[in-house]
Formats: sequence, structure tokens, C-alpha cells
Amino acid sequence: MIADEMRAVELTAFGGPEKLVPVRMARPEPGVGQVLVRVRACGVCGHDLLARRGRLGGPVPRVLGHEIAGEVAALGPGADEGGDGHHVGPGDGPLRVGDRVVLGQRDTTDGGSCFRGESAPGGYAEFVRASPADVIRLPRGLSFVDGALLPCGIGTGLHALHRLGGTPGQTLLVVGAGGGVGIHAVALAHAAGLRVIALTRAEDKRAALLAAGAEWVIAGTADPLAEIRRLAPAGVPLAIDCAGPPTLELTLRALARGGRVAMVGNVGDAALDPAALMGRLIVRELTVLGSPHATMPELTLGAQMVQHGRIRPIVAATLELEHAAKAHRLLEESAPAGRIVLVPERKAA
Ligand SMILES: NC(=O)c1ccc[n+]([C@@H]2O[C@H](COP(=O)([O-])OP(=O)(O)OC[C@H]3O[C@@H](n4cnc5c(N)ncnc54)[C@H](OP(=O)(O)O)[C@@H]3O)[C@@H](O)[C@H]2O)c1
Repeated sequence: MIADEMRAVELTAFGGPEKLVPVRMARPEPGVGQVLVRVRACGVCGHDLLARRGRLGGPVPRVLGHEIAGEVAALGPGADEGGDGHHVGPGDGPLRVGDRVVLGQRDTTDGGSCFRGESAPGGYAEFVRASPADVIRLPRGLSFVDGALLPCGIGTGLHALHRLGGTPGQTLLVVGAGGGVGIHAVALAHAAGLRVIALTRAEDKRAALLAAGAEWVIAGTADPLAEIRRLAPAGVPLAIDCAGPPTLELTLRALARGGRVAMVGNVGDAALDPAALMGRLIVRELTVLGSPHATMPELTLGAQMVQHGRIRPIVAATLELEHAAKAHRLLEESAPAGRIVLVPERKAA
């Protein structure tokens, strides 16, 4: 018997981390063809910080979180008749109660497609509803915390690499490399045979980035462009920018003629000179690619890569669900290398 109420952390109003308030609320009911997922782990993304501050709009109060792994707790009417989701691993076919799953970032439970944690309730909660089409099975051997890194921490870099289309041996610059998306982009690029320059503001993330597969780490340097040019005098052919406004100009200046950058991050404001940016794009024949979240096939691919040891999820910390505000503070201080994951299950006293 599942209780009608659940624990969650609600964004009560746009603002600072203190706006993330532990609450009790009605548990969602799975509708026709839907499953109820007991959240076992939910990653905390840089996107959640923007959402919390109100930069992305959307309703409040609401529950954030789009990086969800858990287990099927109940089936809505007819949910056991489907089975054509994006399932991986043993036991393909209709989802069953107890199946371990990872949710994609889109929510299609009500026929539309919206981002979980924005117009659809997110995973800073004990339960969420999902459509089987938005779910993959968590491969054997992966923990729920590993699973929570698949949709975004890992999947975003995978999508960006697909957008860029580099070839083994090429050099790739990852900017904002010490964050949850950045460090996995480093690992994925290394796994793809690219030679990675990781750029971070934090000297204490150097070791983690080298361990993730960076060939060179530029950390805490006053003039990172000079360092990049020392390593790649003609510029880098490829880049993934996980920060965005504060680093875009640097990233474009680091690219070689004809270089390509996948823009992933949007961490904050910066005064940009559009004329200067346009000049650089035109004269240097650069390509800027917007790169959103992972597709369902990329989610499956990421899960297989982790299962086969091709990359390793890098978890900075796991915190109890009620400590979501603390997780946001840690991210705002850029403290950890890797992902922070919220875990609803309370540790036994
Ligand atoms: N496109 C997508 O689908 C997608 C998916 C997920 C996230 N995102 C976006 O990508 C960004 C990163 O997400 P995340 O989850 O990796 O966040 P995160 O873990 O908080 O990491 C953000 C990293 O960005 C760098 N950074 C932050 N402020 C900076 C500044 N002022 N100047 C230079 N670098 C700065 C830092 O890297 P260092 O510590 O290495 O300096 C920081 O660790 C966010 O804007 C998020 O919204 C986009």
C-alpha cells in the first residue's frame, strides 16, 4: 500500500536556495497507460539553478528535477499492455512493478511534451508519473545514483558530441569542465578518442579532470587563452562550452578557422559585444551549434557505455532530498567536480 501523501521539495517562489522548501503533498496517481515511479535518486543540474532564480519562467510553486532514476511502484490502467518504450537490458517488454528505470527529460504523460521539473512535476520528490515511452530500464550493475546521471550529466555531453561530429585524434576544448555536465563531456570525448583540453576555474578540480580523461587541464589561470594557444597554436577545431555567456568570447577566440562549438551552458549574465562576436564568426568561418538534452536513444547509449565500463558516472556528493537547498548552494559555489544527487530514501537512524 502506497501512502496518498509524499515528501517533496517545493520551489515556493523564484529566488535563492531558501526558496526550496521541504513539504508534504499529494502523491501523483498514474493515469491510463502511465506508471508511477518511486524516485530513488535525482541529480541536481545547473539548469535547476536557473529555474530556481526564475530565469526560465514557468509556474511556481513547483517541483524541480529532471534527472530521475527509480523503480516502478504502480501501473496505471493499461500500462502493462504497452512495452514499446525505449527499454534496455534484460526483460524488454511492458514495465512491471519493481522494474528499475531511468526517465528521459521530456514528460509526455499527458500527450504533450514538456520538460520535467518545469511544466511537469520533477524529481525532487518521492514519486513522479511517467509514460513508458519516456523511460528506459536501468541496466544491471548500475546503482540508482549512477542512473540519475544518465539523462543529463552524461546524456548532454553525448548529444553535444553527436552534434559536433569530431573524429578520433582531434582536439576538443571543454569549457566549464569542472561542472556536472563538463566533467562527463571530458570523459565521453576521451572515450571517443578525442584529445581533450579541460578548462576550469578551479585548481582543485585538476586531478578529477585528469582522472576523467583530460589530456591537458588548464585550471585557475588568469590568461586561459594563452594556455590554449600554447597547446593548440592554430586553435582548437572543436569545443563544448558548458558555461555560455561568461565564456563564449573566450571559446570563440580559442577555435581554429572553421572550428565548431556546441553551446550547452547558460550559467549567468555577461556583457557581450554582438558586433565583435559576429566579426569573429564570419572572418574565422566558425560554426556555433545549440545543443540541448539527450534524446531517448542517447539515453540508452549512455546507459550501455556505463554498463560496459566505457565511462564512469562521477558523483560529487549524495544528499538527502530535504537538503536540496544545500545542493544548490554547493553548486553555486562551484564546489564539487561532478554531479550532486538527491536521494529521497531516509538513512536508518
Ligand atoms: N544544453 C543542455 O541540454 C543542458 C543540459 C544540462 C545543463 N545545461 C546547462 O549547462 C550549464 C552547466 O550545467 P551543469 O549541470 O554542469 O552545472 P554545474 O555542475 O553547476 O557546472 C557549471 C560549471 O560552469 C562553470 N562556470 C560557472 N560559472 C562560471 C563563470 N562565471 N565563468 C566561467 N565558468 C563558469 C564552472 O566550471 P568550473 O568549475 O570548471 O570553472 C561550473 O562548475 C548550466 O547553464 C545548465 O543550465 C544545459
